[in-house]
Amino acid sequence: MDTRVETILSQMTLEEKAGLCSGLDVWHLKSVARLGLPEVMVADGPHGLRKQLDFKDYVGLTDPVPATCFPTACTTACSWDTVLLKTIGEAMAEECLQEQVSVILGPGVNIKRSPLCGRNFEYFSEDPYLSGKLSAAMIGGLQSKGVGASLKHYAINNQETFRMSVDAVVDERTKREIYLKPFEIAVKESQPWTVMCSYNRVDGIYASDNKRLLTDILRDEWGFEGIVMSDWGATNDRPAGIKAGLDLEMPDSHGKNDERIVAAVNDGTLDIAELDRTVRRLIAFILKADSCKKTNYKYDQSAHHALARKAAAESAVLLKNSGVLPLDKTKKVAVIGAFAKTPRYQGAGSSLIRPHQIDSVCDELDRQGIPYTYAPGYRLERSETDESLVQEAARAAEDADIALVFAGLPEAYESEGFDREHISMPESHNDLIRRILETSRDTVIILMNGSAVSMPWAEGADAILACHLGGEACGSAAVDVLYGDVNPSGKLSETYPLALEDTPAFLNFPGYTKSVEYREGIYVGYRYYDKAEKAVLFPFGHGLSYTTFQYHGLSVSKNKDGVQVSLKVKNAGQRDGAEVVQLYVKNSPSALFKPEKELRAFKKVFLNAGEESVVSFALSAEAFSYYNTLISGWHVEPGTYEVLIGASSRDIRLSQAVDIEENKPAEVPDDRRRLPEYYELKDDILDISAAQFEMLYGQPLPEREPVKGERYHLNTTLDETKGTFIGWLFQLIVKSQIKKMAGDKNEDNDSTYRMMLASINEMPLRAIGLFGGDIVPRFTPEAIVCLLNNEFFKGVRYLLKK
Ligand code: BGC
Repeated sequence: MDTRVETILSQMTLEEKAGLCSGLDVWHLKSVARLGLPEVMVADGPHGLRKQLDFKDYVGLTDPVPATCFPTACTTACSWDTVLLKTIGEAMAEECLQEQVSVILGPGVNIKRSPLCGRNFEYFSEDPYLSGKLSAAMIGGLQSKGVGASLKHYAINNQETFRMSVDAVVDERTKREIYLKPFEIAVKESQPWTVMCSYNRVDGIYASDNKRLLTDILRDEWGFEGIVMSDWGATNDRPAGIKAGLDLEMPDSHGKNDERIVAAVNDGTLDIAELDRTVRRLIAFILKADSCKKTNYKYDQSAHHALARKAAAESAVLLKNSGVLPLDKTKKVAVIGAFAKTPRYQGAGSSLIRPHQIDSVCDELDRQGIPYTYAPGYRLERSETDESLVQEAARAAEDADIALVFAGLPEAYESEGFDREHISMPESHNDLIRRILETSRDTVIILMNGSAVSMPWAEGADAILACHLGGEACGSAAVDVLYGDVNPSGKLSETYPLALEDTPAFLNFPGYTKSVEYREGIYVGYRYYDKAEKAVLFPFGHGLSYTTFQYHGLSVSKNKDGVQVSLKVKNAGQRDGAEVVQLYVKNSPSALFKPEKELRAFKKVFLNAGEESVVSFALSAEAFSYYNTLISGWHVEPGTYEVLIGASSRDIRLSQAVDIEENKPAEVPDDRRRLPEYYELKDDILDISAAQFEMLYGQPLPEREPVKGERYHLNTTLDETKGTFIGWLFQLIVKSQIKKMAGDKNEDNDSTYRMMLASINEMPLRAIGLFGGDIVPRFTPEAIVCLLNNEFFKGVRYLLKK
């Protein structure tokens, strides 16, 4: 028991306790001056600091203070480098210390279930182990400097469509093995100061009220000790949230929910001991955050820029190379594509950083005095092909020794707030690439994108370099790699499929208005492509180097601690470079359906040309386990497994069998007769029937669409009210308020504004009340609900309430 916390708690009034459970404004927790509890500030991340100075800007439209924009998670994940992630965490913490920010809202570890998720750029991987390890490293870095992380979005938030209300329907084993796993790893390894609950429902219960998620699993099973905060406006039923383990509501709710907490304690529906439990955690958190604050701290801006450059270069993935790369600095290059001058370097939405500087490719070539000609090739703001720009670019290519084409996904294609509908790049980019490939020049395609794209021209390209979203130094980093100053060592953290139809969630993403069924179960990413023996464009873990690595001498042995693995890796080429050694475990034959193999360890090693090194791994029982729903726990099935060592998931270089004993006796779920569709995946569109999924889920599937004639309530979305006069009117008012705040920004030139407009439709009415800050008067949602239900007088009474 912490006596300081207890002393403060004992002096607090019920109102002060309730008040502490919600924010002061968008970015601060409340202070209690008479008890010495100071204000604490949190701010967005996750790939840099987004500190806004307008604390009442609930919509997030105002510019934040300048900060270093590091590459986003989709990029740094390709480094497979825990040391790099830790270093970025430390650097972000330094920026927070200077700006008096105690918690950065990230990292985000939601699994990339489908390449379509608009927010994939902010997430690490399709693989839970890789996501968990990288996020744990970043959290470790942040917190080592006294700045907390907020691990988000907990949980099962894998799409933007109806993210604020959708019920994510996932079977228990898939939850544990895939979607909760990165959170579990990060919590156990790095103990984040805070966890942010997601907006959506899980098993029908809003994450903010979900005791099973917030307490039973997070705290009781994994040992989480920090505070849980809501995503912005995600709170559903505040007293229920306190009981479930939601400590902090963000932002504030005009005091409405504080009043509800007080009322619940007074009428006995909320036990004061339950409130005290939360308040205790909040006091401890505030005291810790305060004790870590620094005055007059200054971070080294140029060192951080250099780190952003290093991170981007080390995360670039060389997808293909006929030998044209690295380039010779004396050769005349045609630099083609508007991204070379105006790079796409970060995603859109709440994570938008305002960088100190942005290095474009052209800037860096100028700086280094490398000769080139430039042709934009396409218009940044248009998807349609501009023939004259394409012709101009083709001429530039013909006049040069080599063509470098910069293409990918424009900002309007992927953002928080909405999902993509396809995985194509704009036609203007594809047409340009096709045309340049028709010229007689060697052509390198450099991609800037936040998630997988299709590449109908891939075969014709001489080299393809995936830079993803490389942060503020993306241009200089790309030049580093293209000219060989940095030897590429990135590996894909997500599969690049050949077509959207090939992806496992194709038929079930983003689902219905009210629910989304994760029918593909555990078959996410390579777990699916391998099992279905599907061809892919570029596999998970793939990435080339300018040197070659040889693998040999695998040894696998058992001792009392588990399985010890070692092998030798040699840099057999002429250049120094790093290799990511990937360890997969191939599952033993089982009565249970399982993926072919799963990533269980990885290590990035740097080797000078000609150097050889021993790479070792220690595998615990966890590397051989699956989640057994019959015992509600992890089970190691006895059998012969194979340790696979690869340079990618489809480039396995070494393997050795190992016999593994059972960790505890348990019956293995044998679903061969009940769930045959999960055992035999065909190389066809994955189409698991509702009946089989329902059996796997173990309970009736929830409603998919709103029931006609149902009464309106606070969780009705604006979209559902569209057909009514009141709904239409309300939407009009809310939209015009946002427009007013946005000033001269509009849908075409501002992604945040566009995201807000897209989100409005899908917001439950209560969230508009919480999220709407000062632009939505206190009891508007309640009034709207009454008016929608034709309860005119009651509605007006709400409107008149203060
Ligand atoms: C996002 C969070 C973000 C928060 C604050 C939410 O809409 O989902 O990731 O941290 O806003 O901006």
